[in-house]
Amino acid sequence: MKALQLHGYGSGDNLMHEEIPTPQAGPGQVLVRVRAAAVNPLDAKLASGAMRQFMPLAFPWIPGMDFAGTVEAAGAGVTTLPPGTAVYGTNPAGGAYAEYLVAQADAVALKPASRSFEEAASVPVAALTAWQGLMRAGQLQAGQTVLIHGGAGAVGAYAVQFAHQLGARVIATAAAKDLDFVRSLGADEALDYRATPFETVVRDVDVVFDLVGGDVQQRSFGVLKFGGYLVATSQPPSPEEAARHGVHGVMFGMKPSAEDLARVAQQLDAGTLQTDVARTYPLAQAGQAWTDSARRHPAAGPPATPPPSAPNVHGKIVLVGTSEAE
Ligand SMILES: NC(=O)c1ccc[n+]([C@@H]2O[C@H](COP(=O)([O-])OP(=O)(O)OC[C@H]3O[C@@H](n4cnc5c(N)ncnc54)[C@H](OP(=O)(O)O)[C@@H]3O)[C@@H](O)[C@H]2O)c1
Repeated sequence: MKALQLHGYGSGDNLMHEEIPTPQAGPGQVLVRVRAAAVNPLDAKLASGAMRQFMPLAFPWIPGMDFAGTVEAAGAGVTTLPPGTAVYGTNPAGGAYAEYLVAQADAVALKPASRSFEEAASVPVAALTAWQGLMRAGQLQAGQTVLIHGGAGAVGAYAVQFAHQLGARVIATAAAKDLDFVRSLGADEALDYRATPFETVVRDVDVVFDLVGGDVQQRSFGVLKFGGYLVATSQPPSPEEAARHGVHGVMFGMKPSAEDLARVAQQLDAGTLQTDVARTYPLAQAGQAWTDSARRHPAAGPPATPPPSAPNVHGKIVLVGTSEAE
């Protein structure tokens, strides 16, 4: 099969388009013919070696956690996903920038029937992080107030929708250009993170969902109620600060879950969950896709103008044409 792989830490320029043996599905696994794979910021971060202390890579490594495609073969014990089934899912170890990948069957669900492979591939990591982070780690309840930092990003856009649908009061921080977007997703209040220091106008929230980290996280302890939850995705909250403020500080990591993916697929099919694909690229242009992905959020990457032909400024960048069947 064709795959994009890295033979050592590096950038998108080091991705090699190679012919390698097609993997086999073992017990409890499925072999998926990949039709689309999303670009997550973590792909390039892992590739660069910036996270090698916590998440070292074994080379050669094929990037790509989010995928959508069709089951090619089911391993022993997998009875619910016969060949030909359209699925979507997530593989934390990567592998989606290829014609085929092997995934755990319990990390794969039926693709939302009403959505394209590209749309489906853009969903898993971001939507599961939002759902599990708010509902499980943050224990958010109807009637509570949640502050979501980075509400217009890939995870934040789902978090705003899930929290609103639950019946929570939602305050989201975002760039000025994105304030109407987060309001359209259900935010009751939208704060321009460059213009309004959130701690001057927000207090007594039950949950802070921190998708930004750094100084933003540090300033978040003081806006929580006693006993509230600060759930972070990029940097562990200080236990000392959490104790000093009488709150729970939780570093949260998304866990692949077929059950959660099935719930999200139902919402996508019912039309109650908005999802956006920013732009699609052929698999062979993954390096360029990484560069453009980093450029879209100047705070997180080098300042630059957005890609000229981007039809949508929100949502994920997705790689297509990963399967020869395209
Ligand atoms: N632990 C896990 O399992 C897990 C899973 C998924 C993601 N993550 C992490 O979660 C974080 C968010 O991921 P993502 O995919 O949603 O990222 P993303 O799509 O890049 O979105 C980040 C958003 O935050 C905004 N932002 C930047 N600085 C801000 C500030 N000071 N205040 C408020 N908003 C700010 C950005 O706006 P601009 O456009 O203005 O830059 C952008 O809209 C990343 O660090 C990612 O690595 C962790």
